[in-house]
Amino acid sequence: IIERTPLSKLPCAELHLHIEGTLEPELIFELAARNGIELPYADLDELRARYEFTDLQSFLDLYYANMNVLRTEADFADMTRAYLKRAAAAGVRHVEMMVDPQAHLVRGVSLETCINGVASVLAVSQEEFGVSSALIAAFLRDRSPEEAAKVLTDLLDMNAPIIGIGLDSAEVGNPPENFVPLYEQARAAGLKLVAHAGEEGPSHYIEQALDLLLVDRIDHGIRCMDDPALVERLERDQIPLTICPLSNVRLQAVDSLESHPLPLLLEQGLNVSVNSDDPAYFGGYVDDNFAVLRETFDLNPAQLAQLAGNSITGSFAAAERKDELL
Ligand code: ADE
Ligand code: ZN
Repeated sequence: IIERTPLSKLPCAELHLHIEGTLEPELIFELAARNGIELPYADLDELRARYEFTDLQSFLDLYYANMNVLRTEADFADMTRAYLKRAAAAGVRHVEMMVDPQAHLVRGVSLETCINGVASVLAVSQEEFGVSSALIAAFLRDRSPEEAAKVLTDLLDMNAPIIGIGLDSAEVGNPPENFVPLYEQARAAGLKLVAHAGEEGPSHYIEQALDLLLVDRIDHGIRCMDDPALVERLERDQIPLTICPLSNVRLQAVDSLESHPLPLLLEQGLNVSVNSDDPAYFGGYVDDNFAVLRETFDLNPAQLAQLAGNSITGSFAAAERKDELL
């Protein structure tokens, strides 16, 4: 009998999580009923049958469509509470979650509704769930940089409780270089900077995010594998990469879990962490991601502890909170 550490409950931080990607099918139906919205699916099974993706865009289409049920502050709060409860059970002790304000603004849902709904629950996440938390406003790279700048200005004007900005949505053809002024504005406001790069897009988008946007952390970054010099740089500078294995498999950003680069990147000493991205869509939360990695790669306790430790050192938590969690 092989002794195994109860790894699924390793205390860790979740650094790559879209709160709208935690909207489970059951909650979609519940919110639709509450808000008097007719869904284009007859039942849960019909909705679940749509969760087969061929690439990032095929997922984004469903992800944005399902957000239609989010109308009130209470909707955003209920979604956030459900995530925190599940994340706490997965061993998450600190979360830095992204929200996509533009995806709601275009539907006529105000910044206040979305931000206050999420933030009202994050404000009590430590007391209610034992999970410290922070909010990152992510901007949609397939919409204009000017619109993004306007939304960031509005967030700053309303004193939104955000610690940083991110960049997400359709990557290919929407390079980081388009968002240099946005990131300068955020940096001037004292915000932390992250960006999705090298998920489906080429490795030079990762370099652009580092060199032009001056990001503190890269979301995904798996395409760095195409450029050994970049891998070396990421190791040397200990740039955190927030890796999402189940997401990469389900969006076919990798051919299979077996060919996922995470073990190689870990072996080469990069600061890689394990995250769930959009857990309601990709078949699992952080503990599920750890479980499939462990099964597939037979990771040993030291490797698992390194991954959990990286999530904490790669976070924006205060030094005292990091000490508590490490
Ligand atoms: N929005 C939500 N999940 C995303 C992902 N994995 N990549 C880009 N944009 C996203
Ligand atoms: Zn993501």
